[in-house]
Amino acid sequence: MKPSARTPEALVITPVPNVTRNTAFEFHRSHLGEFMLPVTSTAFQQIVEARQMVVVERQGEIVGLCYVKPDGKELDTVSRWEFGGLHLSPALRGRGLGTLLSSVAITAVTRADPKPVMGYVHQDNPAGMGLLVHRLGFVVTDQKVRLGPDDAPGHLRRDSAGCATAHVLRLPDAARARLSDDLERIGLDADSPSVPVTLRSE
Ligand SMILES: CC(C)(COP(=O)(O)OP(=O)(O)OC[C@H]1O[C@@H](n2cnc3c(N)ncnc32)[C@H](O)[C@@H]1OP(=O)(O)O)[C@@H](O)C(=O)NCCC(=O)NCCS
Repeated sequence: MKPSARTPEALVITPVPNVTRNTAFEFHRSHLGEFMLPVTSTAFQQIVEARQMVVVERQGEIVGLCYVKPDGKELDTVSRWEFGGLHLSPALRGRGLGTLLSSVAITAVTRADPKPVMGYVHQDNPAGMGLLVHRLGFVVTDQKVRLGPDDAPGHLRRDSAGCATAHVLRLPDAARARLSDDLERIGLDADSPSVPVTLRSE
């Protein structure tokens, strides 16, 4: 089932307010898994202050998170956004909420400053690739980023040489516009301070 306007389960998508940034940071740190790089506490705080860290809340509890922050990968000299940190509680998956959270975050941040958006997805992460490519409209470039054994040790699934490899994806302008149009079509305002959404029960 996809999110709709009339359903029993009420959720809110909202930029992380300063008062809950520690809880949001804890959510991020405790759900890193094999496919996500940690954001440092200082960087996390900067992203929160810039209103680029977005969560899904259910009855005041954080159940999903992602960010759209200045891209730190420095693939070239072009200034870009980096979409990342996406995690949704398992019980809420498969109903379009990951797409909705991502769309709201990307639309809100890029409307304010429309720079190209990049995504980096671990090569062994089909859920991440599926969501970014099939639902959000990212395209896979011919670039990859590779972390060596000394980069972010203790994080990410590694190959036998101790390296982690991610696909580099970019979001074409037309796809970005489509995300914004899709939100409008279902009556959601990404610029609102908090976006109420509801999920039909499965
Ligand atoms: C990725 C994640 C946020 C998806 O959330 P979600 O609410 O289930 O996603 P949606 O329902 O909006 O979209 C589902 C799409 O994502 C892809 N997808 C989701 N789970 C998948 C899986 N296990 N295998 C393959 N594709 C998957 C599919 O393309 C799917 O589209 P479909 O329903 O048309 O098949 C969630 O699985 C998650 O939190 N995973 C752990 C963290 C993670 O991998 N984050 C991504 C880092 S890049």
